[in-house]
Parts: sequence; C-alpha cells; structure tokens
Amino acid sequence: MKKDLLSILDLSKEDILNLFDKADEIKNLWRGNKIYRPLEGKSLGMIFQKPSTRTRLSFEVGMYQLGGHPVFLSPGSMQLKRGETIEDTAKVLSRYIDGIMIRTFDQNEVIKLAKAATIPVINGLTDLFHPCQALSDYYTLWQRTKEMSKITLCYIGDGNNVCHSLILGAVKLGINIIVSNPKGYEPNKEIIEKAKKINGKKISFIDDPLKAVKEADVIYTDVWTSMGEEREEDIRKKVFLPYQVNLNLLKRAKKEVLVMHCLPAHRGEEIVDEVIDGENSIVFEQAENRLHLQKAILVELI
Ligand code: CP
Ligand code: NVA
Repeated sequence: MKKDLLSILDLSKEDILNLFDKADEIKNLWRGNKIYRPLEGKSLGMIFQKPSTRTRLSFEVGMYQLGGHPVFLSPGSMQLKRGETIEDTAKVLSRYIDGIMIRTFDQNEVIKLAKAATIPVINGLTDLFHPCQALSDYYTLWQRTKEMSKITLCYIGDGNNVCHSLILGAVKLGINIIVSNPKGYEPNKEIIEKAKKINGKKISFIDDPLKAVKEADVIYTDVWTSMGEEREEDIRKKVFLPYQVNLNLLKRAKKEVLVMHCLPAHRGEEIVDEVIDGENSIVFEQAENRLHLQKAILVELI
C-alpha cells in the first residue's frame, strides 16, 4: 500500500528514527560527492499554493540528486484554478508521476488529494502542519545527541503549523517541549489533546517567556504572522513583542542553549540579528538538513 506523509501522526517513533538513519547515510554520500540515484526514472509533482524558498529548492534539488525528475506545478497555471477538483487532479497525476508534494492552506485539501491519489502525497506545509520542517529540525538535534529524552525544547511565539508539528514530533520522540504563547495564540486544542494521549508528560505550557526558557536546551521560534494571516500583522506585532527572542531572553537561558528558527525570519520581529547570527544559533544547519531529511522521505515513500 502507498504511504503518505500528511502529518507526523502518520509516523511511529521507529519510522522517524529510520528516517534519521537514512538521512545520515544520504548526507554522508552527498558530502563525499558520491552518486546515489535510487529514484532514477521517477518523477515528483510539486504543487505550491503559497510561496517557498527552502521547501521548493530542497525538494527540487533533492529529487534531482536522487536521479529523479521534479516537476514544479503552479496552481495558477493548472486547471485547479479553473475549478477542476483536487480529486480529479490527484487521479490524473497518479497516472503520470510517482509522488506529489503539496503546500497549501487547508489540511483537508491535502487529505482529499491523498485519498484520491494512488501515489504517495507529502505535506510541504498547510495552515495546520509542517511535518517536513519538524522532522528536519529533530534530525538536526538527533545528530548532536541520540539521547532525545534528555532534550528540552522551548517553543516561543505563535501556536502555528510549525509549533503543531514540533509538538507532535516531541511526544513521538520523547523530547520535552515547553510552549510559551501569548493568550489567544495557543496551539490548536485538538492537536494538544492528541499529543497528550501519545505522551502527556512531555508537554508543558509556561506563559512567561522569561521563565519558559530557563531549563531549555533549545529555544525555537517562528514568524508572528504566518502565510495567509497578513491581515492580522499589525495587531500581532504588538501582542507578540514580549515573545521576541532577543539577548535579554537568551540571558535567562543556559549559556550553551541552541537557537532554532524554521526560516524565513522576520529579523527585528520574532528574533533579532544578534541572536540569529550569534554563536548559539543553528538555523542554517537546520535549513541544510531539510535537503537531507526530505531526500530520506522521498526514498522511503517513492
Ligand atoms: N521553512 C520553510 O518551509 O521555508 P520556505 O517557506 O522557504 O519553504
Ligand atoms: N509558520 C510559517 C512557516 C513558514 C515556513 C508560515 O506558515 O508562514
């Protein structure tokens, strides 16, 4: 049966650790300039209904490096724009290509696409989830320490798609996650309930960011205004200001704390230059690992 990656809920802890091992193998081959082309003759369709730098480039180049062929599909130039259903699109694509990566707004669109397709579907970000991001981020931490249950990650900011996937990844892997959001910007309740059922002991909420970072090994933040929420930008800039990852916040954390951000960063808003460019930051290592981890996903699914 074909496998999809619509959310981290689709994966067991063992599946995730297998992806990490595979990503390591692929990263080492890439570092050694070794040719590895298990996807020769295969094609990946990539539908983007929102902008992207990292996800597009890492999937496109990743597919090419694996010997396969990436096809960028802009919805504006597809019949989706003129009312063809997502299900009919899925059925047709399934007859031409070997996998679909989609970035869109509504998670239900991705679910509908996956149900109608006979080929694997990968979620490249929706309003609800960003599984490839969280998997690459935890791969980045796993490379540093295999003792994942000893890691405490503190997520500061909006309870958004990245936050949801980080929470689900944390409970699956046994990582401690502390979430610190302003009131009204907490993560989705249903997702929290699901995460608590998997491993409730691993999640906690601390409203005050200065207290939340105290025990953290990793501080993670993301934009205050995600794609599609631009109308709320002005109000969000005010509400989230106390949640900025700046030097004052860093002073409250362990000296060796790592700082992560999925990028793109809005410098001067959720994170300041001194922190993102500082010695605690591993944000560009994270960005690189999107390539390696997603190549592992492509090999596993296609
Ligand atoms: N982090 C991330 O998904 O970046 P892009 O929006 O550039 O793809
Ligand atoms: N939360 C952000 C992540 C971008 C990669 C957004 O959805 O815009």
